[in-house]
Amino acid sequence: MAISDYVKKHPAMGWVIFLTTVLVVFLLGLLASSIVERRAEAVFAYTPQVEYSQFEPRNEIWGKNFPMQYQSHLQTQDTSFRSKYNGSATIDMLEENPRMVVLWAGYGFAKDYVQARGHYYAVKDLRHTLRTGAPIGDKTSPMPATCWTCKSPDVPRLMEELGVAEFYRGPWERHGEEIVNPIGCGDCHDAESMNLRISRPALLEAFERTGRDINKASHQEMRSLVCAQCHVEYYFNKDKVEGVPYLTLPWDNGLTAEDMEAYYDNMEFVDWRHKLSKAPMLKAQHPGYEIYLTGTHASRGISCADCHMPFMSEGGQKFTDHHIQSPLNNVANSCQVCHREETERLIKDVHARQDKIIQSRNKLEELLVSAHVEAKKCWELGATEKQMKDILQNIRHAQWRWDYAAAGHGSSFHSPVETGRTIASGLSIVAEARLKLARLLAQLGHNKVVPYPDIATKAKAQEFIGLDMDKLRTEKELFLEQVVPRWLEKAAERETAYKVSANLNQ
Ligand code: HEC
Ligand code: HEC
Ligand code: HEC
Ligand code: HEC
Repeated sequence: MAISDYVKKHPAMGWVIFLTTVLVVFLLGLLASSIVERRAEAVFAYTPQVEYSQFEPRNEIWGKNFPMQYQSHLQTQDTSFRSKYNGSATIDMLEENPRMVVLWAGYGFAKDYVQARGHYYAVKDLRHTLRTGAPIGDKTSPMPATCWTCKSPDVPRLMEELGVAEFYRGPWERHGEEIVNPIGCGDCHDAESMNLRISRPALLEAFERTGRDINKASHQEMRSLVCAQCHVEYYFNKDKVEGVPYLTLPWDNGLTAEDMEAYYDNMEFVDWRHKLSKAPMLKAQHPGYEIYLTGTHASRGISCADCHMPFMSEGGQKFTDHHIQSPLNNVANSCQVCHREETERLIKDVHARQDKIIQSRNKLEELLVSAHVEAKKCWELGATEKQMKDILQNIRHAQWRWDYAAAGHGSSFHSPVETGRTIASGLSIVAEARLKLARLLAQLGHNKVVPYPDIATKAKAQEFIGLDMDKLRTEKELFLEQVVPRWLEKAAERETAYKVSANLNQ
């Protein structure tokens, strides 16, 4: 019997069914609106404890208003996680791979290169690395002030005070007492709305030059673009503003290794002359964002934050995990929101890509070391600039491709095909260089193999390229003992004058 027949027989039941339906719909509506409200609360459940300006650089002050995000952000202090190739533990990359010492001979990275730890250490690690030298008294650092740009929310503050070009001017130690707070809230957020915000001019300028408007970026794109403020390739342009190494992203021709190489070649840009081969070298910084864009996840619209800053839940409140780290330390939240596979399976997938890329990357490194050593031999045998020109250009291009593929952290997972392709093109160029080298060596009367150097350890490799490491280390210790504590004292004094008002509505 259909309901309609039943209701015809018992009209009162019709009313009961009708009213029950109304009540159920009403209750469902209440439930739905309460869920929506809770979510909104979860995202923005806070009564401001303090008020501060956009240029407040101290993360602990912002943290008073957003304790959960702040507490998770503080966990970037943890250095206990080590994955197969990455993680937050300190790894001495030159010790792991002494070939790099030879590849960077004559450049700062040959002195010291440690695998990134975490945002909490950005400022400390910059002071400690041998690359920034030991500016004491009249002695200046080999690095410019520009080097601070991706380290701290003191940077947007200081740029606001000094102007952008003026910020980049002068030696590194110029901002020593100004830049003390590690990467934090003000780097990525608008203080008033807490919306994501681009605080670094180089990214804004690169968008402008290539005719795009960053203000039109979607919310999901912003969840990657905040990272692209720092995890990108860049160089110091000395032609833009007189006497200023102006931080610039070489994106005008496009983002691949070839596009950027053409950009650098056109302006005859050289990072340094290689100490052994004298090749006019390029140093890749960390084109993480650029390579990422070519991968499967990017093409499916997934952002950096999806894997590196997943949602967390604590006491029923959902929030964004600010413990930015290797996602392999948190596969449940980082991967399994989208993938159903077991943790082990997913980690294996990551390792499989990394293993295979690293296999061909190691080969490219070996061939590059040989090319530098053979070029050195050519010079010793009296080769001319003209004879060497083409060979050195090949070395420049092959090593650029290696560095582009190696320096973007995470690239062999983010985009294995593009990373592999870039290394393969480096392999073919270095093969060309070595063919030319073999011919030239024969022409110069050296018809034998040039022996591969003994660079089994970092120390041996550094000795081979003629670095006096003891001196560098002693000077650094002195700098850390004598100069840094003074910087910190002055910074603390300056910060006591910053305006922070307790919220009067409390
Ligand atoms: C689909 C998930 C996913 C996305 C999206 C993603 N990554 Fe990664 N990322 C990983 C994995 C997995 C690794 C490898 C971690 C390891 O080996 O321990 C990694 C590694 C890294 C590393 C090196 C980490 C370390 O421990 O040294 C950095 C830096 C990084 N990614 C930055 C980014 C940036 C910037 C973006 C966006 C442009 C991004 N990632 C997008 C999954 C992702
Ligand atoms: C490297 C960039 C970055 C830094 C540094 C950063 N955040 Fe975030 N924050 C994000 C991203 C990305 C989101 C997710 C935003 C979204 O999807 O709307 C977020 C979300 C938030 C939200 C919104 C609620 C939530 O949990 O999703 C708050 C509040 C917040 N962050 C506070 C902070 C505080 C406080 C600090 C400093 C201790 C900080 N953030 C540092 C990138 C950053
Ligand atoms: C203001 C510049 C800046 C921004 C913005 C930034 N990073 Fe970083 N990031 C760094 C620096 C510098 C380091 C190296 C810090 C160190 O070890 O001293 C680093 C290190 C990392 C590491 C390595 C940590 C580890 O455990 O090995 C990961 C992963 C990472 N960043 C991901 C991201 C993601 C994802 C975003 C965007 C949500 C982002 N970063 C935004 C500058 C930045
Ligand atoms: C926001 C959703 C999302 C997250 C988070 C995510 N993935 Fe994916 N992943 C995808 C999508 C979508 C694809 C493409 C699959 C397709 O379209 O068939 C994909 C593809 C893959 C692939 C195959 C593509 C390739 O690179 O060859 C692997 C492997 C993978 N993901 C591993 C991971 C791992 C490991 C993590 C965590 C670190 C992760 N994913 C996080 C959505 C996600």
